[in-house]
Amino acid sequence: MVKQEPFYLEQFADKWENSADITLAETCSCAVSINELQTLVGAELDISKILDKQLGYGWIYGSEELKTQISKIYETISNKDIVITTGGIGANFLSFYSLIEKGDHVIVVDPAYQQLSSLPELFGAEVSFWKLKEENGWQPDLQELKSLVKYNTKMIILSSPNNPTGAFISIDDLNKIIDIAKSNDLYILSDEVYRPLFHSVPKDEIPKSIVDLYEKGISTGSMSKAFALAGLRLGWIACKNVPFVEDCLNKRDYNTISVTPINDMIATFALTHKDILLKRNESLCIKNLQIVKKFVDESNGKLKFVPPSTGTTCLIKVVGVNDTNQLCLDLIKEYKTLFIPGETFQYPGYLRVGYGSSTQDVIEGMTNLLKYLNK
Ligand SMILES: Cc1ncc(COP(=O)(O)O)c(C=O)c1O
Repeated sequence: MVKQEPFYLEQFADKWENSADITLAETCSCAVSINELQTLVGAELDISKILDKQLGYGWIYGSEELKTQISKIYETISNKDIVITTGGIGANFLSFYSLIEKGDHVIVVDPAYQQLSSLPELFGAEVSFWKLKEENGWQPDLQELKSLVKYNTKMIILSSPNNPTGAFISIDDLNKIIDIAKSNDLYILSDEVYRPLFHSVPKDEIPKSIVDLYEKGISTGSMSKAFALAGLRLGWIACKNVPFVEDCLNKRDYNTISVTPINDMIATFALTHKDILLKRNESLCIKNLQIVKKFVDESNGKLKFVPPSTGTTCLIKVVGVNDTNQLCLDLIKEYKTLFIPGETFQYPGYLRVGYGSSTQDVIEGMTNLLKYLNK
């Protein structure tokens, strides 16, 4: 039996989410129902098509319509470059399962979603953490990356937009990372499940996806975050490297077969109207982020953060509190309010705040946090 590290963040969230009335633990843009989606985009899903759809396995590799819509998120990707998976989590899993083996070395940005380091380790790789520093605005240090590359390095793993910091890798830095990868013949896997939620970034500063910049770039994406449809459990890998895509498809036969055809149809509909859906989620993030900023400003120095510009999450430092795990347990017990403790990212003293969910939760959650800290 392969020994697998517990997924600290997911286990904390699973354990406590039912005890909470208010949550800032969510990382998805506030989820929409099919009815809300239809109203929002001003079009109707062909429900009769869904009702008539025979529920066999459906399109084994995902429908061509779905892949066409996904390819439009990118500039240079076509249907053959896309592998449909069960969520972004399935996309990351399949990518590592295909590429990583014993004796490999990978470099992963830190902090990041635990899956991005635990899985390469599970598949036998040595993992080096490329620390993003708060004092640098959670931006990467390229000299440090160079010093981490070894003879057996196979992959650089990025998370941009980043969970938990909400920072993104700039066009300039991305190009420099690609130069380092090219000169060492490395893959770059960029977890882009929060793409294209660049809600507070000027248009001309939004970087292209890694797959539109680098042949050995792998982008993992999802309906969950930017498109507010986590319940579809639908994600994808996009990559122009043919042997890698073929290998993913081969390995996928063992763990996916297909995603449900109904979800394929709903995702296709949502992505057909993606600009409207995205606008709704961007506006929500901008509005809720202003609220978070206001609470941080009014905390009398008890809270500090680097305001995020992308995604749905940020890391807030709770000044003078080291045990944020206990803080989160107290907030659940006393205020039925759920935050994710920084400990789940190995960053004690911080809270991971998901501000993409309901505005009401953001207001009440931040109010409760300050009430607790001011006691
Ligand atoms: C960075 C990152 N990658 C992947 C996932 C998995 O999400 P999903 O499987 O819903 O796409 C998450 C979920 O929080 C995440 O934050």
